[in-house]
Amino acid sequence: MQTNMATLGKFISFEGIDGAGKSTHIELVRQLCEAAGKQVVQTREPGGTPLGEQLRGILLQQKMAPATEAMLMYAARHEHVVQVIQPALARGDWVISDRYVDSSIAYQGGGRALAQAQLDALGQIAIGDLLPDLTLLFDVPLEVAQERLARSRVFDKFEQEQADFFQAVRGRYLQIAATQPDRVKVVDASQSIEEIAEVVRGIVQTFLQRNAAIAESQA
Ligand SMILES: Nc1ncnc2c1ncn2[C@@H]1O[C@H](COP(=O)(O)OP(=O)(O)OP(=O)(O)O)[C@@H](O)[C@H]1O
Ligand SMILES: [Mg+2]
Repeated sequence: MQTNMATLGKFISFEGIDGAGKSTHIELVRQLCEAAGKQVVQTREPGGTPLGEQLRGILLQQKMAPATEAMLMYAARHEHVVQVIQPALARGDWVISDRYVDSSIAYQGGGRALAQAQLDALGQIAIGDLLPDLTLLFDVPLEVAQERLARSRVFDKFEQEQADFFQAVRGRYLQIAATQPDRVKVVDASQSIEEIAEVVRGIVQTFLQRNAAIAESQA
């Protein structure tokens, strides 16, 4: 798809294995951005649109072949980009998404062992070159994440996967962070909620300040 539209706003994504603490900290980031005067669109994947939410229901419950799962994930993502993310960025809004394309690289690529070239082909159709400006990767040992989830809710299809699946997902996430350090910031999510919030606050404030400085130099 064409993604060479003007993007006036900024795009922040949250990534990490199930139970890492993404959803716990998304509200804080929203508040920090709003306090800096940004109009924020908060969204999630899979989902973010009526069709995407229907696909989410299927994806989180039904078993299916890995490539089917990948195609449905990227289908939902394309709808999300076209209907929500691109229009918001074009308006100058800031988009904060609970998961985006790195989830597919990690889960369908790392966890389900699909080839990166196949995911790149789907990505070409679904998102073009629309990557987040900032990604917070919540990194945590599997056992810690599992224990948190066990306390909080009934497991969905992904959350029922075995330890080697999540080990592969976590490993692929860390590879993405190692190759794209400017975009992807790793947060040690094994700490307490308060400690993590402090780290997240620091990363987002730095990001906000850098953007303000760039905007000023262009004014
Ligand atoms: N640092 C932490 N210490 C202890 N418990 C935590 C911490 N962060 C989150 N939790 C708890 O762990 C559970 C999972 O956290 P959360 O829902 O934020 O994870 P998530 O990354 O959004 O997971 P999912 O990918 O499944 O949506 C929640 O019950 C939350 O309150
Ligand atoms: Mg969550």
